[in-house]
Amino acid sequence: MTILVTGGTGYIGAHTTVQLIEQNHEVVIIDNLSNSTIEPLRRIEAITGVMPRFYQGSVQDSQLLQQIFQRHNIEAVIHFAGAKSVGESVADPLAYYHNNIASTVTLCQTMSHFNVFNLVFSSSAAVYGNSTKVPVIESMTTQATSPYGRTKLMIEQILEDLQMTDSRWSIARLRYFNPIGAHYSGLIGEDPQGLPSNLVPYICQVALGSLDKLSVFGDDYDTPDGTGIRDFIHVADLADAHEKAIRYIANHAGLHTFNLGTGRGYSVLEMICAFEQASSKPIPYIIQPRREGDIGKSWACAKRAKSMLGWQAQHNLQQMLQDAWRWQKHNPEGYKQPLLGQPISLRMAS
Ligand code: NAD
Ligand code: UD1
Repeated sequence: MTILVTGGTGYIGAHTTVQLIEQNHEVVIIDNLSNSTIEPLRRIEAITGVMPRFYQGSVQDSQLLQQIFQRHNIEAVIHFAGAKSVGESVADPLAYYHNNIASTVTLCQTMSHFNVFNLVFSSSAAVYGNSTKVPVIESMTTQATSPYGRTKLMIEQILEDLQMTDSRWSIARLRYFNPIGAHYSGLIGEDPQGLPSNLVPYICQVALGSLDKLSVFGDDYDTPDGTGIRDFIHVADLADAHEKAIRYIANHAGLHTFNLGTGRGYSVLEMICAFEQASSKPIPYIIQPRREGDIGKSWACAKRAKSMLGWQAQHNLQQMLQDAWRWQKHNPEGYKQPLLGQPISLRMAS
């Protein structure tokens, strides 16, 4: 299948592109590089032997999208592109509503114009808001607590309206829990710009010695050790779920919603301990007050993805953390150090 991957040079997009190529799909990427660089393309080629077609530009650019759909026989779209920082979205909500929502509307309009109706959308556990019931089931009430989360919820609703109005649409809304880890080659991984805000990238920087110590945000939650519990999932497992979702929606029109998690949660202190084992590095930490907006515990019920997609997370916590550490150790500055030192020949729209 020929698949358009929006945001394909980003963290999850690059891992999914690798898996799609390995499953013999043809991948076309559009990314405006607002939170990535072109370096992952070279790494994808190093892993798979294939350089995906790449267009630098925004999903909001309908002319560019039209060019892409004219040039390639796109059969399905995986829509990762979007801004994803909760803090930034609170500081500048309009930028988030504009980037995430407007681009999705433009994408769907273009897809419809070219009679492409198969879409996989990157949603988030953020749509469950402050829900304290675990495990989290897809049918639970949704209610986001930040502008970022609301963009995900609004897009989910837009996609629902679209599918209700036109039954040719076949849509999977994938709600990710906490993606971590990296490709086992150590060639691609998560490359946060500036100070990491998520737990595992922060721990990696402490292990490297770039940061002194980890702040553990709160030890007074209603959890066995008092620290927050999350459902961490290997990015390669997420990538696999996208490939399965693409195949599923090709044969099942409708609107489908899946949690993507392991179904098991780990606390912050358990994560520190497991990372120390995986890396043989000490992780100094101090307990700090709770981070605003955080919830105590969240983990997925992932049964629906198992029964309908035939998908289940395969990697355990040690594998996730070993892979995260391998990537970080070999790429202490992320993608800043180019792999081969040669400029990439980009196949961009002329
Ligand atoms: P990422 O920032 O690494 O990747 C997103 C990519 O989209 C980046 O390469 C960025 O340059 C690109 N982009 C942003 N706006 C664009 C636009 N208008 N046009 C073209 N490209 C654009 O993020 P990620 O971690 O790979 O996340 C992918 C998707 O999954 C996002 O939609 C995110 O909200 C969602 N998600 C991520 C997580 C997570 O923890 N990483 C959790 C839940 C949901
Ligand atoms: C955060 C976002 C969420 C997003 C997800 C993945 C918030 C409120 N939520 O989720 O919308 O989908 O990232 O990108 O920002 N922790 C520490 N010290 C740290 C960092 C984190 O103790 O330096 C703790 C947190 O309090 C939490 C756990 O580690 O209990 C996981 O945090 P994080 O990795 O940021 O993910 P979430 O908060 O679940």
